[in-house]
Amino acid sequence: MTYPTPSRQHFPDDFIWGVATSSFQIEGAHLADGKGPSVWDTFCEVKGKIADGSNGHVACEHYQRWPEDVQLIADLGVNAYRFSMSWPRVQPDGQGAWNEAGFAFYDRLIDALSARGIALHLTLNHWDLPQALQDQGGWANRETCAHFTRYATEVARRFGSRLASICTHNEPWVIAILGYEQGIFAPGIQSRSQAMQAVHHLLLSHGMACQAMRGLGLTTPMGIVLNLSPIYPASQSPEDLAKAKLDDGLILRLYMDALYRGSYPQDVISHLAEDAPQVKSGDMATIAQPLDFLGVNYYTRNFSSSGNPWDVASTGNQVTDMGWEVYPQGLTELLCRLHQDYQPKLLLVTENGAAFKDEYKDGVINDTQRLDYVRDHIAATHAAHQQGVPVGGYFAWSLMDNFEWASGYAKRFGLVHVNFETQQRTLKNSALWYQQFLSEK
Ligand code: FCB
Repeated sequence: MTYPTPSRQHFPDDFIWGVATSSFQIEGAHLADGKGPSVWDTFCEVKGKIADGSNGHVACEHYQRWPEDVQLIADLGVNAYRFSMSWPRVQPDGQGAWNEAGFAFYDRLIDALSARGIALHLTLNHWDLPQALQDQGGWANRETCAHFTRYATEVARRFGSRLASICTHNEPWVIAILGYEQGIFAPGIQSRSQAMQAVHHLLLSHGMACQAMRGLGLTTPMGIVLNLSPIYPASQSPEDLAKAKLDDGLILRLYMDALYRGSYPQDVISHLAEDAPQVKSGDMATIAQPLDFLGVNYYTRNFSSSGNPWDVASTGNQVTDMGWEVYPQGLTELLCRLHQDYQPKLLLVTENGAAFKDEYKDGVINDTQRLDYVRDHIAATHAAHQQGVPVGGYFAWSLMDNFEWASGYAKRFGLVHVNFETQQRTLKNSALWYQQFLSEK
């Protein structure tokens, strides 16, 4: 299916148009001005974990170059910026003393963007947990929920009224499953039971933090961001259908049922057997706080097969540099399904974008594939909106090339190119397209 070229005029006037980043991926300055180490600082030191052996010490030097980056964001013509706060920058140990120098950095950033009329969408936890808390078990330890709640409340108290929204966690599935079960992301643990306990504690801390932040009398919209890759069965065989249902349970229903229905899906809990999370009385009600928005990060779809692993090439569709199928229709289908099954008050596409190899030639990066990707996914978002889904925003991932976790700096998702030798930023053609699209008022 091909989508017609979208136009900004097809969307409501108050639609949120943004670009997104996260602290660890762009800030650098990993120990500057009193910042403590995060689990990703530690993980990058483990040989073989990061494809190019890199780390986040410098990244995009955003901690120093933020004025230039603020200008870049403003020049794009977006009305919103999604970013995250580094918890160990503002509270080096994850408990106890606050680091005023860290708060001052975000204070300046928020001021500068607000002055340019850009709405701030803050994520409290985009994976860079203070290492000091990991030393006590990290998200597998229930105590972390209380520490996170205190951190969230302090941030909300200081900045809440200047923010357009607060998101508690970015992609709990990735933190728990890639970090605690598969061990390919920080903290590099391989234990299914710890992973499931981490899922529960991430969700519980989300609910606790929302309650506490609202307790301050704040009306700032609050929500969470999930990665909800839709799952399709590889065939219509009963075995593949059953596998797809379970995989959908593990990646989508486990989180959505907890957040919107106050229970974990029974089939998933039975499947997990002794690895299922320990849940205390009252936990599920705490998790199911009313949400002002649900953030959806969408990149691709996945197939489930009970037999041989699914080969993405068999779709015949284009594949990105991450090996992810380009399938914009999946975004329309996902948004419609979430609306139908869970009725979130508001849906935001909080991340969407693609890594492709870029060629820098005479100051031009003609990234046609990324441009097409972004354009078609904006059209796919529009298609869902047309079908009555309350989707109110789109954030391109990412503002600029950055540290792509275990892939290091080799995978480029930016609309803006970063030369990591010189830190020079150059708008790619995809950025110029987005700028043009946004100027159609
Ligand atoms: C998402 C992450 C984001 C980025 C993209 C490519 O899972 O939230 O930080 O790495 O993938």
